[in-house]
Amino acid sequence: MTQQKTSIHGLWSSRLIFILAAVGSAVGLGNIWKFPYITGEYGGGAFVLMYLVCISLVGIPIMVAEILIGRRGRQSPIHSVPAVARESGASRGWTVIGWMGALAGFLILSFYSVIAGWALAYVGYLATGDFEQQSAEFVTNQFSSLLASPWTMAGWHSLFMILCILVVARGVHRGLEQALRLMMPLLFILLLVLVGYSLTLDSFGQGFAFLFQFNWNKLSSDAILVAMGHSFFTLSLGLGAIMAYGAYMPGNVPIGRTVFWIAGIDTTVALLAGLAIFPVVFANSMAPDAGPGLLFKTLPLAFGQMPGGTFFGALFFVMVALAAWSSAISLLEPMVAWLVEADHMSRPQATVLLGLLAWLLGLGSVLSFNHWSDLTLFGKTFFDLLDFLTANILLPLGGLLIALFVGWFMREALVRDELLGNTAPTFSYRLWRFVLSYLSPLLVLAIVVDFLLKLF
Ligand code: TRP
Repeated sequence: MTQQKTSIHGLWSSRLIFILAAVGSAVGLGNIWKFPYITGEYGGGAFVLMYLVCISLVGIPIMVAEILIGRRGRQSPIHSVPAVARESGASRGWTVIGWMGALAGFLILSFYSVIAGWALAYVGYLATGDFEQQSAEFVTNQFSSLLASPWTMAGWHSLFMILCILVVARGVHRGLEQALRLMMPLLFILLLVLVGYSLTLDSFGQGFAFLFQFNWNKLSSDAILVAMGHSFFTLSLGLGAIMAYGAYMPGNVPIGRTVFWIAGIDTTVALLAGLAIFPVVFANSMAPDAGPGLLFKTLPLAFGQMPGGTFFGALFFVMVALAAWSSAISLLEPMVAWLVEADHMSRPQATVLLGLLAWLLGLGSVLSFNHWSDLTLFGKTFFDLLDFLTANILLPLGGLLIALFVGWFMREALVRDELLGNTAPTFSYRLWRFVLSYLSPLLVLAIVVDFLLKLF
């Protein structure tokens, strides 16, 4: 066997660091910004249930599959997939997983950086006490005026992209490891503080019910597709980000248990964000379906009313920006690692080039909130289209291919070697293999086909 013990990019220094890096990638705008607003748009409880089903039956099994391809191949996805395919006697054609992933990562990074820029802008607004004792109307207007200023947005977008380039250019695990150790626990504590505040509101029960009361009538095929797409987005699956991180995972770390931790923490953070936001929505008679601005229209209002809100508010948006940062670098890493391996250029050169291209494309998203807001296709702006195409089409498609590849084409001896070592197959191994080979691909296919059929 040609198994490689290490990668040219280095390895994570411990299991804990791998978990931190993967959680850093998974926990991001998807949890704090996107999950609440799509839950609001698609009506709450039934959507949340569907999302949890997809995390369990699609997300978790596919995350295991991604990590094990990465760790077996020990390179960027574009190189790991064909290496594992070769070892398994399968077609090189599977490399398409790597290429599609690179494209999706690039597209996501472009708009992700724009939204992360909003969070940076809000650090400033909160730190200067703009929202103290202000009305819902004031807070909403503040957000609208940010969207109306392409220059301001582009400025913050640029700053965020520079931050990403700085980390990835140095190599993901230098520098990043220290930052993550501090940041992740702090983010968690701040979310708990916010949920604590929401608990004091009379509308807490209403917010809770909105998240957890299942109303099946509200579950359209759109909603199901979006819930599934989001389970990929929030766990960073389908494009090879977790595969790239898996390539740096020490060989003795148990993959299965680690994945449960990552998915569990990610889901908890999303639900906490929902519990922090929706009571504030209802306490101020705001609409839960406010769209992408939801986070920015609600939490500043809560901070404006709580004691110490200026400090906690600024700190909270710092955390949002940091969470976005540790996610965004995982969007860049697979492509950068590939360019470095292919000897085309050095790591810093590759990072600057790709970061610059994604930054340029991001300007399209910036404009789609103002000058280009009327420029739509299927009723969607440039930003909406990118978001929809990546999260709901490209990621599920990538995930489908990964599940089929590992479930049906990768030699089982290799799979067992990574997951079990020398021990005999356990019940959980068999269950995982069954779900990955049959249930996950069928569910993804059924949901995408159902959506397409209703579209035409
Ligand atoms: N998971 C991140 C979030 O929830 C976004 C993200 C980072 C991502 N890397 C990814 C999404 C790779 C898909 C694929 O904000």
